[in-house]
Amino acid sequence: MGSDVFEKCFNFKAANDLRIKGFYPYFHKVGSVQGPEVMVDGEKKVVVCSNNYLGLANHPKVIEASIAAMKKYGTSCTGSRFLNGTNDLHEKVERKFAKFVSKEEAILFTTGHHSNLGAISSLVGRNEILITDKLDHASIIDGCHLSFGEMVRFRHNDMFDLERQIVRYKGKGILIVVDGVFSMEGDIANLPEILRLAKKYTVRVFVDEAHSLGVIGETGKGIGEYFNIGDDIDVLMATASKSLASIGGFIASKAEVVDYIRHNARTMIFTASLPPACVGAIDAALDLVVAEPERRARLMKISKKMKSAFQAMGYDTGHSQSPVIPLFVGSDLIAFKMWRMLFDEGVFASPVVTPAVQEGRSIIRTSYMATHSDDNLDFILEKFEKVGKQFNILA
Ligand SMILES: Cc1ncc(COP(=O)(O)O)c(C=O)c1O
Repeated sequence: MGSDVFEKCFNFKAANDLRIKGFYPYFHKVGSVQGPEVMVDGEKKVVVCSNNYLGLANHPKVIEASIAAMKKYGTSCTGSRFLNGTNDLHEKVERKFAKFVSKEEAILFTTGHHSNLGAISSLVGRNEILITDKLDHASIIDGCHLSFGEMVRFRHNDMFDLERQIVRYKGKGILIVVDGVFSMEGDIANLPEILRLAKKYTVRVFVDEAHSLGVIGETGKGIGEYFNIGDDIDVLMATASKSLASIGGFIASKAEVVDYIRHNARTMIFTASLPPACVGAIDAALDLVVAEPERRARLMKISKKMKSAFQAMGYDTGHSQSPVIPLFVGSDLIAFKMWRMLFDEGVFASPVVTPAVQEGRSIIRTSYMATHSDDNLDFILEKFEKVGKQFNILA
């Protein structure tokens, strides 16, 4: 008899060990809208782990647009964009997004994860090279695994190492893929230098603006705008599940590149399209990113305030330059225990542990919303100070 593929499931103990110890931080039920305060497992918590950066997930205009789209087009498109699943709303938001980020065309996938999978795997084929930052998001790595190209990695934001990898594969087709804002560390890719190297060696650059769209840059166009070099990004990816208060993912580029992806990305062709309610929400959220810049201003102001306050307390916040502020706490066990104590104190946070981080570099990842009140922020700081002292991790 052969071995049983279920054996690994019966031997999987990690989650249950945490459940037994009372430290299990995952899959808790949120019973209210994703605002700064939510009901979790029936108790009120202040949230410090949401990607609802601009606070649009319960904006009346976003909800209205979502309902209107559902009323007009129904609850599902019941098929792939490629066949029966495209409507005029999909195309409207694609045009709106492309215009917003100043690219010729854009295409809307059903999730951000799908965008990375589909675009990366279709763009890079056999005998071609994907060069990724070591801290790139898992969906980028998944896209590389789906590609027939070879994936190589450079040390996080280390431009000497990037150049070394480019030189190693000189002469081959190369796509460099980086997060704009790194999702766990909150720091920003060194785009000016990446683009300089790309020009020097004639290679292409793909930037995932999941955590920067709506947030970074004067008008929220992302890190390209922040560095004033957005036109030189060859492919811009963004998700709709964070600042855009919905779900879905965009790829924007030259018209020919987008058309190629449209007809070759497996995650475009072999999955059903984004439901109307989600597209309607994106449509309204994109308008609000432009119409309500005060949200971005508030978000950046409070992010700076929180980072300084955590540093003053003695927390190690790494190199965050965004509303994602990691607090490095040490071992996985400390991260889980801290998560639990924060939860009991009324703060809903996210622990990030190995293998997502290096051994001994576990994080409590905090992130902010334009709609956090000053009282919310003071409450968060008070609780983090109390918990940090308890665990003796404040410098
Ligand atoms: C950097 C980055 N890229 C892509 C994704 C995938 O986007 P989505 O969750 O919208 O599918 C995420 C989401 O976690 C992300 O953080």
